[in-house]
Amino acid sequence: MLWAAYGVTEQGGFKRSTASVGALYPLDLYAAIGDSGVNGIPGGFYHYDPLAHRIDLLSEKDPRQDLAKASLRQMWMARAPVSLVITAEYSRICNKYGERGKRYALIETGHVCQNIFLQAEALSLGAGIVGAFEDEKVIEILGLPKMHEPLLIMPVGRKG
Ligand SMILES: Cc1cc2nc3c(=O)[nH]c(=O)nc-3n(C[C@H](O)[C@H](O)[C@H](O)COP(=O)(O)O)c2cc1C
Repeated sequence: MLWAAYGVTEQGGFKRSTASVGALYPLDLYAAIGDSGVNGIPGGFYHYDPLAHRIDLLSEKDPRQDLAKASLRQMWMARAPVSLVITAEYSRICNKYGERGKRYALIETGHVCQNIFLQAEALSLGAGIVGAFEDEKVIEILGLPKMHEPLLIMPVGRKG
């Protein structure tokens, strides 16, 4: 799912599954995984490294409950075994394109989001989209780097 969202699609290259203005890739993907949520992966909070196609454990604490509370108490989110979090580091793109870079990063986020929906469908999973959350709380709960602004949270799980 992370590969479909933002993974590298060319052999030995760096270009991704998502179009990116100037191929600057200003986004980061994180995964909040519940205990027993994904076969073979311990619960916790992970960062996706697209070039290595690897997830790196950042914290062993499963943040899904806190994430749901910070999302205006949309507690349904915590029932999904995984929540993917899309963040933007605007400087990566604004250094070249100025303020307009923000627009490009937001458009790119929509593309990543749609890739996740499509891959969920292909895997017969369900995915949701959450933009209603308190930025500061989410940043604190997840311990995000200062420059990584959370834009979307996408709970993913089995339907029904
Ligand atoms: C940017 C964005 C943010 C959204 N945030 C939330 C949210 O926080 N909680 C939620 O339940 N749905 C959220 N939605 C989903 C919309 O409510 C949903 O797409 C709309 O009701 C249409 O329903 P459908 O997508 O199932 O067709 C969001 C959608 C978008 C595009």
